[in-house]
Amino acid sequence: MLRVAVLASGRGSNLAALQACDDDAGFGIVGVFSDKPDSGALQHARDAGIHAQALVPGGYPNRESFDLAFFADVMQIQPDLIVCAGYMRIISAVALARLPVPMINIHPSLLPLYPGLHTHARALEAGDAEHGASVHLVTAELDGGPVIAQARVPVHADDDPTTLAARVLEREHHLLPASVALFARGRLKLHQGQPWLDGEPLAAPLQLRGKVLVQDGPDK
Ligand code: GAR
Repeated sequence: MLRVAVLASGRGSNLAALQACDDDAGFGIVGVFSDKPDSGALQHARDAGIHAQALVPGGYPNRESFDLAFFADVMQIQPDLIVCAGYMRIISAVALARLPVPMINIHPSLLPLYPGLHTHARALEAGDAEHGASVHLVTAELDGGPVIAQARVPVHADDDPTTLAARVLEREHHLLPASVALFARGRLKLHQGQPWLDGEPLAAPLQLRGKVLVQDGPDK
């Protein structure tokens, strides 16, 4: 069973989606960590009987000292994989360099489009015909690590950021568990900082079709 630590700052719907399928998919969530003590994600973890822990950045002199303390807590539960599921902090390069396990993040855009915030509004402003979400390896570049998998949705003429976010989020809830399951089954590995699938470098992001990740093109 792959031991997964989840980092989350918000309501925790991606955490709930992960937890709903963890046994079947060969992974177990062994801890949830947050910078927000009152987050829905931590409440969800407590309700589910999962180790839940908050550390607030306010008491630390800088980002690095907070991150080092935060990830020391995370590593205490001995995860094999760290999953950022709505963890809304930039992580310092120093802390990342010391992490002995891979860390992935789910981001609500088709990276490399729209790193950072307000991705749905930015996709609408740009007049994009499609939008989506990406799971990527976390590196020191914000939302800039190698992309592992993506889910695509159409943008409708009458969308606003809220309706578009809801369409993307529904796909996130399949994209993230399917991506973690690839690690759990030993199909996806990190080799010299790059994702490898089935013993080959991943040439292009996997695409979510229905609930399954495939290699041959976008979800239509
Ligand atoms: C998700 O849409 C996730 O993609 C996004 O935060 C939301 C968390 O929702 N993450 C980021 O924007 C990271 N840059 P949740 O708390 O309901 O899972």
